[in-house]
Amino acid sequence: MATLEIKDLHVSVNTDEGSKEILKGVDLTIKAGETHAIMGPNGSGKSTLSYAIAGHPKYEITSGSVLLDGEDVLEMTVDERARAGLFLAMQYPVEVPGVSMSNFLRTAATAVRGEAPKLRHWVKEVKEAMSELDIDPTFAERSVNEGFSGGEKKRHEILQLGLLKPKVAILDETDSGLDVDALRVVSEGVNRYKASGDVGVMLITHYTRILKYISPDFVHVFANGRIAESGGPELADQLEAEGYVKYIGKQEAASIG
Ligand SMILES: Nc1ncnc2c1ncn2[C@@H]1O[C@H](COP(=O)(O)OP(=O)(O)OP(=O)(O)O)[C@@H](O)[C@H]1O
Ligand SMILES: [Mg+2]
Repeated sequence: MATLEIKDLHVSVNTDEGSKEILKGVDLTIKAGETHAIMGPNGSGKSTLSYAIAGHPKYEITSGSVLLDGEDVLEMTVDERARAGLFLAMQYPVEVPGVSMSNFLRTAATAVRGEAPKLRHWVKEVKEAMSELDIDPTFAERSVNEGFSGGEKKRHEILQLGLLKPKVAILDETDSGLDVDALRVVSEGVNRYKASGDVGVMLITHYTRILKYISPDFVHVFANGRIAESGGPELADQLEAEGYVKYIGKQEAASIG
């Protein structure tokens, strides 16, 4: 049973003006079988949280801990984190010119699974996974994300998710920029992954529309570098109706007081 435990996480980023604290004590536990939606204003630190967990070198962990099944994630290299079962679908997936999608996927699957998948099975597996996400087979020979449309990039993040089957998936605005059909196809991909085992999902989003397809067990409001409130799915509807003013106001009031 996978458990991701984030405790009192403080993260800073190095800027030209020096170090700037972005995460100010994040506490969150995601257990197998649970989906946690994270919602919050622009610039509140949601992507910083996902990068810090994935091991992006630009973000410095100043205190706190991240454990996956009791193992210290922060001590692991980025590839060790992936092999341990962490996955990040990036808000802005990077283009990797010169590396074909099929090569990339097979290399990633080999690293994560510990052995190269048998070629015949692998070809079939990828074909099926691509067809489930309505991805044209010609994408397999294109360079990773190069020239892909926004929505195509997001579909390919979910393709990776389905093939790599991590223990815990962090999906950073995977729904942003998707048309209605793509939103359904991508959500179905996430739900297939959820149904495939005892896995945990952290779903960062600005919109309740994806939560109609992927039902969250918990909704967290992320404001000013920490979780300001947690609740059930009804909290998402409340946020849609009322916005974040209440939470931003609270933070400001606290810093003045
Ligand atoms: N390298 C950097 N240099 C300076 N500031 C940074 C850097 N990286 C992040 N920040 C700042 O940290 C804050 C949090 O950014 P982050 O991308 O985590 O926000 P977010 O909650 O994901 O926002 P959005 O909803 O717009 O995706 C922002 O104010 C951002 O400008
Ligand atoms: Mg973000």
